[in-house]
Amino acid sequence: MSRLDIVIFGATGFTGRKAVEEAVRISKKTPISWGVAGRSQQKLEQLLAEVGAKTGGDDLSKVKMIIADVKDEQSLKDMTSQAKVIANCCGPYRLYGEPVIKACIATKTHHVDVSGEPQFIESQQLAHGAAAAAAGVYVVSACGFDSIPNDMGVVFLQQNFPGTLNSVESYLWTHMPDQYYKEMMTGGCIHYGTWESLVYSLAHSGELSALRKQLFPTKLPAFKPRLEARSRVHKHDSKWCLPFPGADNSIVYRTQRYFYETKQQRPVQFKAYISMNSLATTILLILNAVFVSAMTSWGWSRKLLLNYPRLFSMGMVTHDGPTEGVMDNTFFTFTLRGEGWSEGADMENTKPDKHMVVKVKGVNPGYGATVTALMYSALTVLKEQDKMPGTGGVLTTGAAFKDTSLIKHLNENNLTFEIVCDSKK
Ligand SMILES: NC(=O)c1ccc[n+]([C@@H]2O[C@H](COP(=O)([O-])OP(=O)(O)OC[C@H]3O[C@@H](n4cnc5c(N)ncnc54)[C@H](OP(=O)(O)O)[C@@H]3O)[C@@H](O)[C@H]2O)c1
Repeated sequence: MSRLDIVIFGATGFTGRKAVEEAVRISKKTPISWGVAGRSQQKLEQLLAEVGAKTGGDDLSKVKMIIADVKDEQSLKDMTSQAKVIANCCGPYRLYGEPVIKACIATKTHHVDVSGEPQFIESQQLAHGAAAAAAGVYVVSACGFDSIPNDMGVVFLQQNFPGTLNSVESYLWTHMPDQYYKEMMTGGCIHYGTWESLVYSLAHSGELSALRKQLFPTKLPAFKPRLEARSRVHKHDSKWCLPFPGADNSIVYRTQRYFYETKQQRPVQFKAYISMNSLATTILLILNAVFVSAMTSWGWSRKLLLNYPRLFSMGMVTHDGPTEGVMDNTFFTFTLRGEGWSEGADMENTKPDKHMVVKVKGVNPGYGATVTALMYSALTVLKEQDKMPGTGGVLTTGAAFKDTSLIKHLNENNLTFEIVCDSKK
């Protein structure tokens, strides 16, 4: 039996549904065979009917439906053996991710996902990196808003920097027209699945240090000049900024480490920040983050966080997820400021003399740009393995896709990477 090109697992979830819409859009211009998988036949049928109606009356009744439950190993293998690539939207990945990766390795099926959970991602590299490579299977996590813009953005800067790139600071800015704020206050801007993943991720963040000691037993050499972290709250480009709370720092670090270990390439130092208009919002966000983070420490308070997401997220998280209006009108820009030396400069004895700025822009970060990046990552694994390193392994997006045409495809699909400044300092 021939395999489908891509099967979307967790298709009935909030993100999975958007991935299905994206598959319909993509399949109208690129011939691919694809299917959906989940644990309920009835939900899958309803999903296909609703998506078909939404995308303009497409008849999706012939789309293959596969029943698979994370708790049933055989059902996962039955699913993965019917696909060349699994696009996995079934999270929190800490709870549901590993059995799917194991089934993929057992049936020689590639795997991409939109996890933003560093412990999950790094623990999979540690536990299954060798087996995935031996099986010729690519497992690439964080193919969504976490962390394609920053990870591929740094790779894009590296590839275009005429000289040696030493460091990158990234500033994320999101905005929406005023008329959608009221809608956002009612429907929120984040679906519960992301909140649940965040709560478990924060609760287990203490595991990272031991995990990293095992994963990276040797330290990277100290490269100079060192990119110092800016103060927790600082002003930049007339906005208030604070450290970006996502997985991007850890993903970019792993990519850069991979290049250093496999190609002896000087690693780029990286720090990510998020920008806000007002100091009051910035302080409120920090207080909320500290409070939520503390509350993830105990079972009883975790339960409260999970039971009352809206209350503890200041209205941002809802069970229904954001409205279409809010999603389609949330715009984002990552400004990646790179510094380094121009070609031939004396890197030992002179300071960086060159800078380059890249902007990565898109719409609907959580559920639009994310599924575009996910589906094009899946397509890249499907079609461009000859440009990917080795024959498999648990890799970051940057390590996996550096030499592929992923950025070109994203540029053509509303997630754009552009050099906006290239000058001497
Ligand atoms: N990196 C990014 O930028 C980004 C953006 C968006 C989302 N995400 C991540 O994507 C994940 C999903 O988020 P979401 O909001 O879409 O969550 P969601 O709506 O709750 O979807 C979860 C999916 O998992 C399925 N599922 C749960 N338990 C299962 C089991 N035992 N067997 C099979 N399927 C099972 C659910 O199926 P049922 O419908 O049957 O319950 C549903 O399809 C989260 O981890 C989130 O953090 C990441």
